[in-house]
Amino acid sequence: MAEFKHKDIIALQDLTQQEIELLLSTAESMREINNRDIKKVPTLRGKTIINLFYESSTRTRTSFELAAKRLSADTVNISPSTSAATKGETLADTALNLLAMKPDIIVMRHAVSGSHELLAKKVPCSVVNAGDGAHEHPSQGLLDMLTMKDRFGRLDGLKVAIVGDITHSRVARSNIQGLTKLGSHIFLAGPPTMMPPGVERLGNVTVCGSLHEAIQDADVVMMLRIQQERQGKTLMPNAREYARYFGLNPENLKLAKPGAMVMHPGPINRGVEMSSSVVDGDQSWILKQVENGVAVRMAMLYHVCGGDLE
Ligand code: CP
Repeated sequence: MAEFKHKDIIALQDLTQQEIELLLSTAESMREINNRDIKKVPTLRGKTIINLFYESSTRTRTSFELAAKRLSADTVNISPSTSAATKGETLADTALNLLAMKPDIIVMRHAVSGSHELLAKKVPCSVVNAGDGAHEHPSQGLLDMLTMKDRFGRLDGLKVAIVGDITHSRVARSNIQGLTKLGSHIFLAGPPTMMPPGVERLGNVTVCGSLHEAIQDADVVMMLRIQQERQGKTLMPNAREYARYFGLNPENLKLAKPGAMVMHPGPINRGVEMSSSVVDGDQSWILKQVENGVAVRMAMLYHVCGGDLE
């Protein structure tokens, strides 16, 4: 059995295949706790976790908080609008001040790629990445992999299409890093303005000329959100044009394998990335992704705390 020796979880790029498999199998065990009447175990009793979110979040922040609480850790949430960041305090100063209060883990989301790496070098407590700019979103990558494993029982040999704004997507980057280590083949499609040059070098990745080419015979179709907030200028003519060429609808979904799973990290721009009938259709695994997010984050918190606590 692999051991997990990392103080921090910053990126799936840093983890081995065995470490990713360990996190996924721990998440599978954690799931049972989430289905109990009393959803609480003492595993992280006495640990203090600070959730420091400099960007908005519904799914990630709520599920990291629930994950900590279900493992009996004490949690504190800090958002930029109510923190001293509004008064110009730097991230490093905020971190050192929080550290003086002796947290065991800081879970952070930040708009700047690489900010977690800097933080992790400055603080002795664990740092868990809840999304850094367009770099990585490791907990999302893990929950996506867990959901695919639920459907297929394996990740090896899967054809996974990822469609949309690849350039600005930390979700795409984490999935590419994790899935290629576990033997999946990734097919990317998106407008040329949203496709980073050299992305093929990240792993077992094929860049396709169209959505149709990417999703043909796919086991998994993962649609990405258009990240207007990270696009300095708009990179598409308009939402209707985008939906016409890169939107998933019941008609083009037929190109994928029968019963292919449809995924989206959320939040969804309904009618742009996907039609509502696909979002709510019987091939959609989107809410299962959200459900798995709690178990995956429990596993991450557990392993950065040493993985052998009560
Ligand atoms: N998928 C995801 O990161 O969603 P939130 O922005 O709501 O956390």
